[in-house]
Amino acid sequence: MKYLLSIETTCDETAAAVIGEDLSVLSSVVASQDRLHERFGGVVPEIASRAQVERIVPVIDEAIRRAGVRLEDLKAVAVAHTPGLAGSLMVGLMAAKTFALVLEVPLIAVNHLQAHVYACRLSSGEEVFPCVGLVVSGGHTSLYHCPSPLEFRLLGNTIDDAAGEAFDKVASMLGLGFPGGPVVEKAALQGDPKAYDFPRSMLEDRTRLDFSFSGLKTAVRYAITGPGKFDFGSVPLSPKQVADLAASFQEAVVDCLVGKALLALEMTGLRTLCVGGGVAANRRFRERLQAEADRAGIRLFIAPLKLCTDNAVMGAIAWERYRAGLFETLDLDIAPGPIRPLKSRSEPGSVPSSACRT
Ligand code: KG4
Ligand code: ZN
Repeated sequence: MKYLLSIETTCDETAAAVIGEDLSVLSSVVASQDRLHERFGGVVPEIASRAQVERIVPVIDEAIRRAGVRLEDLKAVAVAHTPGLAGSLMVGLMAAKTFALVLEVPLIAVNHLQAHVYACRLSSGEEVFPCVGLVVSGGHTSLYHCPSPLEFRLLGNTIDDAAGEAFDKVASMLGLGFPGGPVVEKAALQGDPKAYDFPRSMLEDRTRLDFSFSGLKTAVRYAITGPGKFDFGSVPLSPKQVADLAASFQEAVVDCLVGKALLALEMTGLRTLCVGGGVAANRRFRERLQAEADRAGIRLFIAPLKLCTDNAVMGAIAWERYRAGLFETLDLDIAPGPIRPLKSRSEPGSVPSSACRT
């Protein structure tokens, strides 16, 4: 049996896993930084990359130790090199290149968002492609047409905030802590999802598969402070208000995600939906999606809870690239993500090379 080492450092988790070519998971280690970012209400890139440097070696060591494999049993090294925070990505990539060089094994590039979708293939053990892939995380809300594990075509994206980011910001407004998703979900259990009539931006537009969550975030803010006001300090909220705001916000996000996912299936004619990313851990979202999928006769795969948030196991998608002979040279660079170009400096739609490279 061949094994590969998978490394994931795209944001604030340092993760490593050893995975067999039959997709068996020999070990998975995830070091979370939630505690370091808690008091800022969001991930601070500089803190994240410094913590990645401290943790990467012990995390990889532990993954190899738990797997019980010898270094020479590792036949490839996979690393998530896009998208993510530049400093964090660089740490994982340097570690992976070092391994590839020293062990003289192929280096395989993993797209973190594609890996989130692949978590469904991994956990179900079933052939899930071709499918529509929905990735709902802290940095991304994206729909893909995925004909095969090697082809991902973007169908739609958030035009502003990601769904997870909106959960994190709303949690901070409600004084609930970080990361926002789990605490908003918990507060929402006691609330009325119809208490506030929050906007479902772009849901009515059946010609586009994009999302927008910044208007919803502002609507929650104004529901707390009053229209046009930004000062939270003088606005005490009762536990009932917090619960109702959380439940109404969550319901609006879920409506948008479910609505656009179903529209993507309709537009592509596909009957399989794979969902991954941190927000896919949300129970209300999972229940609503399952109910809609059952009603519409859609094959639905949602990543299991432990594979929703960032981990290196989903880097198993690298075996698909291994089989296709898609290896990288040591020139492989990080690609932090789509940075919108300044219109005045470049052609519309073009991304300056300096924006994606460091
Ligand atoms: O995929 P992930 O671990 O990291 C990124 O790639 O961004 O996603 C993290 C995001 C955070 O914004 C977090 O608040 C959100 O996933 N999240 C949730 C839940 N658990 C985590 N959002 C809603 N409900 C949850 N239960
Ligand atoms: Zn992620």
